[in-house]
Amino acid sequence: MNKHILVVPGDGIGAEVTTVGKQVLEAIARKFNHEFTYDEALIGHVAIEATGDALPAETLEKMRTADAVLFGAVGHPKYDNDPSAKVRPEQGLLQMRKELGLYANLRPIKLFDELLSSSSIKPEILRGADILFFRELTGDVYFGEKTRSEDRSTASDLMIYHKYEVERIVRKAFEAARTRRNKLMSVDKANVLESSRLWREVVQALTPEYPDVEVEHQFIDAAAMLLIKDPKRFDVVVTGNLFGDILTDEASQIAGSMGMLASASVGDSTGVYEPIHGSAHDITGKGVANPLASVLSVALLLDISFGMKAESEAVIAAVDAVLKDGYRTRDIADADTAADKLLGTFAMGEQVL
Ligand code: NAI
Ligand code: MG
Repeated sequence: MNKHILVVPGDGIGAEVTTVGKQVLEAIARKFNHEFTYDEALIGHVAIEATGDALPAETLEKMRTADAVLFGAVGHPKYDNDPSAKVRPEQGLLQMRKELGLYANLRPIKLFDELLSSSSIKPEILRGADILFFRELTGDVYFGEKTRSEDRSTASDLMIYHKYEVERIVRKAFEAARTRRNKLMSVDKANVLESSRLWREVVQALTPEYPDVEVEHQFIDAAAMLLIKDPKRFDVVVTGNLFGDILTDEASQIAGSMGMLASASVGDSTGVYEPIHGSAHDITGKGVANPLASVLSVALLLDISFGMKAESEAVIAAVDAVLKDGYRTRDIADADTAADKLLGTFAMGEQVL
């Protein structure tokens, strides 16, 4: 098959981990006789530095015409403590999601058995946990109107959802539940928030269309607690943008590390595949970032955008084999990991290849 992939490394460790992700794509193309072509584009801080814009028009155009986007991360410490910055790297990310209509963010929490002991949660609680999050990505408080009073002492962010926005992602989550264990948990804060009451109404209205799926409603605070207490009760989870953001960082500890979690953002046009972690400036340039989240994002890309199941499974199997062989990056290493099995970003990539 011929496919064109746009690689958008972005900032910080984004460049390091997408380099490995691209090497895996190249290896897959060789092994399975595909013709993959590549291009690169700027986003985030590096794009602001080069063009003044967090999402240059050229990048957006390349995204629209690619068959899939392999994405790194955006963000730079320069902006994090500067509330007055007018242009921010994260604006590029949000604008990309909006412009490409990427309303569904799929975040599988895949627990590799070999990493059971590297989580801070007890192995017997974790074993068998397998969760698929559907985080809504183009609505909620992230896109609602923002205000700041003239004297700058009052600020607001509008939490807003439209029925159609809830409906389309909830349908995707129901469909996914049907291919898994037929369980769907919808997470909201309907006891307090009106936008959450709308959310719950929509889920309730759709439920009769999926009689084979068992639906459970949880409030975000209770869901956050249950996730640690009993991760095995979760199958598919659907939730809004803000709750999904927080809940999936929490869930990363089920998989052992932020460096293990991949995501797929899909919707109206080109799918974007990226680790859930950010630009991690504390470890940028040190060569220690875990590239497996990017590698597993490649697995999602092959499966979802290209329909290449065998290729996708080959990538996951390679990650599994590397972990079984005992290789670890720092973030997933035990105290007793042998020094020769402790690898940097590119050496880990080599093992996967
Ligand atoms: P972060 O995800 O970049 O890092 C959190 C912690 O996890 C850090 O200690 C980091 O070293 C570690 N970590 C993350 N990825 C890792 C990997 N692959 N291997 C090993 N360790 C890893 O989140 P943080 O520090 O809150 O934000 C840093 C910047 O990234 C900020 O500017 C933020 O706005 C941005 N950000 C961007 C995201 C994106 O592009 N999708 C998502 C989250 C944050
Ligand atoms: Mg996040």
